Amino acid sequence: MEDLTPQRADLEHIEKASRDEISALQLERLQATLRRAYNNVPHYKKAFDAKGVHPDDATSLEDLANFPFTAKADLRDNYPFGMFAVPREQVVRIHASSGTTGKPTVVGYTQNDIDTWSHVVARSIRASGGRRGDKVHVSYGYGLFTGGLGAHYGAEKLGCTVIPVSGGMTERQVQLIQDFAPDVIMVTPSYMLSILDEFRNQGLDPRASSLKVGIFGAEPWTESMRREIEQTFDMHAVDIYGLSEVMGPGVANECVETKDGLHVWEDHFYPEVIDPVTGEVLPDGEMGELVFTSLTKEAMPVIRYRTRDLTRLLPGTARSLRRMEKVTGRSDDMMIVRGVNVFPTQIEEMILKCKGLAPHYQIELRREDRLDEMTVLVEARPDLPEGAGRDAQAKDLAHHIKSLVGVSARIKVTDPGQVERSVGKARRVIDLRGQS
Ligand code: DLL
Repeated sequence: MEDLTPQRADLEHIEKASRDEISALQLERLQATLRRAYNNVPHYKKAFDAKGVHPDDATSLEDLANFPFTAKADLRDNYPFGMFAVPREQVVRIHASSGTTGKPTVVGYTQNDIDTWSHVVARSIRASGGRRGDKVHVSYGYGLFTGGLGAHYGAEKLGCTVIPVSGGMTERQVQLIQDFAPDVIMVTPSYMLSILDEFRNQGLDPRASSLKVGIFGAEPWTESMRREIEQTFDMHAVDIYGLSEVMGPGVANECVETKDGLHVWEDHFYPEVIDPVTGEVLPDGEMGELVFTSLTKEAMPVIRYRTRDLTRLLPGTARSLRRMEKVTGRSDDMMIVRGVNVFPTQIEEMILKCKGLAPHYQIELRREDRLDEMTVLVEARPDLPEGAGRDAQAKDLAHHIKSLVGVSARIKVTDPGQVERSVGKARRVIDLRGQS
């Protein structure tokens, strides 16, 4: 793989700034954001008053810990536009995340917000190894989901040639990659695997493709998946993180030269990690729930938004800005199987240890005789014949899951192409326990 480390001279000042400078900027922006939220959004005025705090009380960054959290339910309760801090006419864009139940959560952007967002996505693409002049193939969905348009505006801002393909029509994705020869692809890691299958269906060698960098996010993925993608495509696989409530993609991104967690673009998003049960702020280095406060957003400032994503904060390396560890689970995705906490990514790691299994998988949970039963549905690699080979792989996988994750699982090894595919975020868990 090519060395794509950016020149230090090409980095923005803030990416190299001292911690003191970063903190001073954050405090100034935090104070302005707290005032904006309090003065313009009835929900925040009510929540601050109820907690007996006022924006003037924030004289240091640590004081933020005294302010109330915001949860997805608060956004739902104020559906659709009640969280906006500007008159609706100043909102130039709406996005929404579907959610599995009830109403979507709606977010809004002023023109300045769109500019900020484009800026942080451009910074993310550069950190990933993309450059002005590169061709960027965007397979994140366009529409209410923030992935497609977020990636698109960022790539344009960096000065790239954007190919706005959106998700789906996998054959055409491959044809366009062959014909247009993009340098960069932005897509969910699970959909990248479908694109990979299609390369093989068409008899094409993925290592011979033009792609140098993949910028993968919107769902958890593991280090093993990174190795799998990097080896099969001979390209860098870099992690991008974000969520619509805070902005969209580009809240944090890995640097291609280190791939050691995601640098949080802390000049725009202030991170905290809390104990999810007590709500107490944890010191850097400790694992907990990630919470974000926007520092520059105009249309919809968010104060201490609880992401439900589990990670820890670490000091900066390739940049001065702090890192968050790769998010391998959300508290919502955690399965409790016979009392053991299990994340789908742990199963992914185990699957990738088995050379004959492909990383297309789904986990089914059922309740039988009042006991949880976990079945892992996973595809055989095309070169693994039916019969004894598959049985041996199933046995191996069950063994790894039992000894390293601590639960017994039934394994069903299917033919290639049998596990449900998604063109965006993959659905990893099917919980049927309420139904049996
Ligand atoms: O998924 C925004 C996005 C688009 C990020 C494209 C990256 C690339 P939402 O649909 O609001 O927004 O979902 C946000 O997705 O709270 C995480 O649980 C998960 N997520 C996003 N990026 C990552 C990642 C977009 N890199 C939710 N690793 C977040 C793990 C991620 N989980």
